[in-house]
Amino acid sequence: MFTDLAVPSIAQIIRKGADYLSVEGIPNARLEAEVLLAHALAMERIQLYMRPDQIISLKDRERYQEALVKRGQNMPLAYITGSKEFYSLDLHVNENVLIPRPETELLVDWLLALFSDGKHWHLNNIVELGTGTGAVTVALAYNLLKAGHKDFRIYATDISWAALQVARENIERLQVGEVIELFEGDIYRALPESILSKVGVIVSNPPYIPSGDIGGLAPEIREYEPIGALDGGVEGLDFYGPILDEGRRFLVDGGRVLLEIGDGQGRQVMDMAAKLGYGDIELHADYGARERMVTARWR
Ligand SMILES: C[S@@+](CC[C@H](N)C(=O)[O-])C[C@H]1O[C@@H](n2cnc3c(N)ncnc32)[C@H](O)[C@@H]1O
Repeated sequence: MFTDLAVPSIAQIIRKGADYLSVEGIPNARLEAEVLLAHALAMERIQLYMRPDQIISLKDRERYQEALVKRGQNMPLAYITGSKEFYSLDLHVNENVLIPRPETELLVDWLLALFSDGKHWHLNNIVELGTGTGAVTVALAYNLLKAGHKDFRIYATDISWAALQVARENIERLQVGEVIELFEGDIYRALPESILSKVGVIVSNPPYIPSGDIGGLAPEIREYEPIGALDGGVEGLDFYGPILDEGRRFLVDGGRVLLEIGDGQGRQVMDMAAKLGYGDIELHADYGARERMVTARWR
């Protein structure tokens, strides 16, 4: 890729890399070319601007080229660099986990708001179902600990052992292990009986893409992200019934459920919650008026 450059400098190979990504149809080609070069050189992106004339060694060029080719084949940037920012935290990611999305930060906002008024500390046993990278659990724990709270516990589950390894790494990276326990299993299956009727909040961003829509997703998603993190069954709603139904055994009176949903799924999820006896059921939309979350109170 860089053979026509005699002594390639940072500025030159960024240009080449951006051209390559652009031809491969990658949007934001220039920005991504810079991110990939910074990753290959193990430096911050800003440092590239400070040394545009620095000559790049053959080994570094090869590493950069490898990354560009992966990106050209639609591998998401986060899987190539192994990291993704979520709630201003730098999380480790790999192909065994869904890349945390910015909209999921709304769940963390809601949880932090719940605990911020000091009136809800009796809800301090929190369960997260389908933790993946651990994004929600880690961001919540990190921010509560930073605010000086220690009196809470998060029980996070996932059916994927490989995903839990990523969550574990993020928990260690952010040093929040003192308040988190991880469990491998189907929805609630692996959780200890000792927390039955003692859970204050159940939070989940379950797989919610209708099976038939998976094939129409962007190649970055459908070819690389784990299908088990995406596929929510025929209507995309398979997880909500069991989460709400069985959740009733775990929740304390007044306990909350907080579920990320796909746009257009709000009505059905709210109906399920109502039929199962939940109250204070609310649908939350984002700034673009897309349905994002349903919250409910147990009794
Ligand atoms: C949409 S991803 C959400 C990941 C992460 N919580 C986030 O918000 O970025 C759904 C997660 O649920 C997990 N999952 C799928 N089926 C499950 C099940 N039956 N029980 C527990 N977790 C499950 C997947 O492995 C995946 O990590």
